[in-house]
Amino acid sequence: MHDMTAANLRSAFGGESMAHMRYKIWGDLAEKEGFANVARLFRAVATAEQAHATGHFKAMSHVGGAFNVFAGAGFGLTNTSDALAGAIGGEVFEINEMYPTYLEVARFQGEKGAIKSMEYAVMAERIHAELYKKAKKAVDSKKDMELGPVRICKVCGHTIEGGIPDKCPICSAKSEFFVSFE
Ligand SMILES: [Fe+2]
Ligand SMILES: [Fe+2]
Repeated sequence: MHDMTAANLRSAFGGESMAHMRYKIWGDLAEKEGFANVARLFRAVATAEQAHATGHFKAMSHVGGAFNVFAGAGFGLTNTSDALAGAIGGEVFEINEMYPTYLEVARFQGEKGAIKSMEYAVMAERIHAELYKKAKKAVDSKKDMELGPVRICKVCGHTIEGGIPDKCPICSAKSEFFVSFE
């Protein structure tokens, strides 16, 4: 694997890993503040980010070694509205800057595995950003959000509000690969 794509995958792995943990922490905060559905959304999306981190890790499984990993990450633990603002900021950065740039490099370098795992990630991040925006609107008017069952594809992180599909529309994984948050 080319060095630049490997470095980008490591950075994306770091970003997804921290997003996973940050969403779990913010999920606990949302629950404490009485926003049960927002808490459920944070926990569901945390599982999607784990799927992305896993995909990136596997895409570079043949590149061993220990590295310092740079991953831009937001910090702060105040209230659910701020947490959602942080989540939206992180997702939008990944959608508009990080993944498009990393994907350009991976395509230039012909790194098929990296392209696949990063395309999976960016598709799900677009859905996450929209769900978090909806959540923030509700929380800012002092209400919990309306949220149906959320399903996460463990293979690609695809995020669905509603029923479980026969197979994942993004990666074709079978229905048993979906985790439900209801
Ligand atoms: Fe995301
Ligand atoms: Fe999938």
